[in-house]
Amino acid sequence: MSSSAAGQHLLAIDDLGSEGIEELLEVAEAFGEVERRSVRKVPTLKGKVVASLFFEESTRTRLSFETAAKRLSADVLSLAVASSSVKKGESLRDTVETIEAMGIDAVVLRHKSAGAPHQVARWVNRARVINAGDGFHQHPTQALIDLFTVRQELSLRRGQQSERSGLSVFEGLNVLVVGDIRHSRVARSQIQAYALAGAIVTIASPGTLLPDDVSSWPVTVAENFEDALRSADIVSVLRMQEERGSGSFVPSLHEFTATFGMTEERSMLLKENALITHPGPMVRGVEIASRVADDERCLVRKQVANGVPIRMAALFLALSSPEEASRD
Ligand code: CP
Repeated sequence: MSSSAAGQHLLAIDDLGSEGIEELLEVAEAFGEVERRSVRKVPTLKGKVVASLFFEESTRTRLSFETAAKRLSADVLSLAVASSSVKKGESLRDTVETIEAMGIDAVVLRHKSAGAPHQVARWVNRARVINAGDGFHQHPTQALIDLFTVRQELSLRRGQQSERSGLSVFEGLNVLVVGDIRHSRVARSQIQAYALAGAIVTIASPGTLLPDDVSSWPVTVAENFEDALRSADIVSVLRMQEERGSGSFVPSLHEFTATFGMTEERSMLLKENALITHPGPMVRGVEIASRVADDERCLVRKQVANGVPIRMAALFLALSSPEEASRD
C-alpha cells in the first residue's frame, strides 16, 4: 500500500490505503479554500494538460474534474466520444496513445468495462491515470467525496476544523450501504474507504442485488433492514443501476422501493443525527423518496459541491512528486 498518493495513478481506494485517503482529504481541505476566494483559480498546474475521456454518461464527475483542472490552471482536452474516431472503430489503446502523443499529463477515464483504467495505466508512458468510474468495479473519487462530506458535516457539528480530525471521526461509526450493491462501483470504493477509515460497515440489499460472494469484504450483511437503519450513523443510498440491468434482478422497481427504498417512513426510523448520502444521479421515488432527498440530513448537494476540491486534490497529487506534494 502506498503511503502517499503523490505521483501515482489513482485507480482504486485500496491503492491509497488509510494514509493516502487522509492525505488526499487534507489536500482537498486546502483547495476548498480556493473555492471561497473571489478569483477561484490558482497556478498550481499551469502548463499541464488534462485529458477527460468519458466513454460512459456523466454529469457531476466529468464537469467537476474539468472544473477542478481549470481551477488549477491546467489545460483541458475533453474528448466527445460520440463524435470521435471511437465511433469509426478506433480501439481504446489507440485512442489513448493518440492523445498521449499530443503531450498530455493526466487522463481522467470513465469506462463501462471494469479494469479499463488499470489497462490504460499499463499503456501510457508518462501520463497519470485517474479512474472516474469503471463498470461496477471502482469509483475512488466518489468515495473520497463521500468521506470528505461526512467528515465536514460531523466536524461542523462538533465545532472542529475537519482537517485537524484526520480520519478519527470515522472510528466506530456505523455506516449502512443500501441498495444495488451488485452493480455499484460506488459501493465497492466506499466500503473499502469507510473500512480503512475505521468505520463499521453493514450492507442491506435484496439477495439478488448482493454480489455472489462478499466473504472477503469488510462488511456485515444486515439480517433486518429496519434494525440496521435504527443503528446507522450514516446511510449511503445507492442508485438502481438500470444501465447494468438492475431491473431484471428484482420483480419490479415498485417491489424494490417497497422493500429496500429509503422511503419517508423508513427515514423516520433513523437516529435524529443520522446522515444520508447519495452519489447521484438520484432516481427519486425509486431508491429514495423525494422528501428524504430534500431533507436537511441528506448531504447530496454538499457531496456535489465537494466534487471540485476532491478532484483538484486528486489531479494535484497525481501530477506531483512526493516532495512537491509535501511542500504545497
Ligand atoms: N456520481 C456520479 O458518478 O455521477 P455522474 O455519473 O453524473 O458522474
